[in-house]
Amino acid sequence: MNATRLDYLQAMGIEAWQPKHIAISPCAEISHAKSAASPAETISLNALRAAVASCMSCELHKTRTQTVFGVGNEEAKLMIIGEAPGFHEDQRGEPFVGRAGQLLNAMLESIGLDRKSVFIANILKCRPPGNRDPLVAEVNECTPFLQQQIALIKPKLLLAVGRIAAHYLLNTKTSLVQLRGKHHQFGATPLIVTYHPAYLLRNPIDKGKAFQDLLLTQQTLQTLS
Ligand code: URA
Repeated sequence: MNATRLDYLQAMGIEAWQPKHIAISPCAEISHAKSAASPAETISLNALRAAVASCMSCELHKTRTQTVFGVGNEEAKLMIIGEAPGFHEDQRGEPFVGRAGQLLNAMLESIGLDRKSVFIANILKCRPPGNRDPLVAEVNECTPFLQQQIALIKPKLLLAVGRIAAHYLLNTKTSLVQLRGKHHQFGATPLIVTYHPAYLLRNPIDKGKAFQDLLLTQQTLQTLS
């Protein structure tokens, strides 16, 4: 392991971890995978951003400071999907800028990526009060925006961080433990699941498994042109 990678692992809070070789298994067929909507092809990402900013489709518009559309490279090969903005994201209008965001940055750096090279978005574009879990109705109202983002950005690979994103994108209730570490599909787009950085802050013992998922992500990206 070279010094740089060790530095990144230390930034993630993983001490002297030696990466194992991860074999890439064939993409699992998920029969119930939702497919990304295609009507988005006709609208630009900026028009979509404006539509999100003025959205009042659910009650969350009443308590938000601002919407959190997403950030990063609009032609990214890798798109990270989180759950919903928290306090800091609601204040700044940018996803993953709090403590969980700092860990996400370190996770990305551990595989040679950064916030500018990927695109980061959430299932919900507005903060649920008190950071509660998104309601089904909120997810149903909001996710057409995410589907349109995916259709416009056309990432080669999706990385779902956490249970909420994984369960929505894979249309499943299977535990994260069973979903992580393997290939899935969201429509035609390959998808990998890993732990949410906020979970990893509470459960640092699982950071090693998250790093395995990140290596799988890195290896998968290398195989996708
Ligand atoms: N957690 C998320 O899932 N998304 C954010 O943007 C911030 C915290």
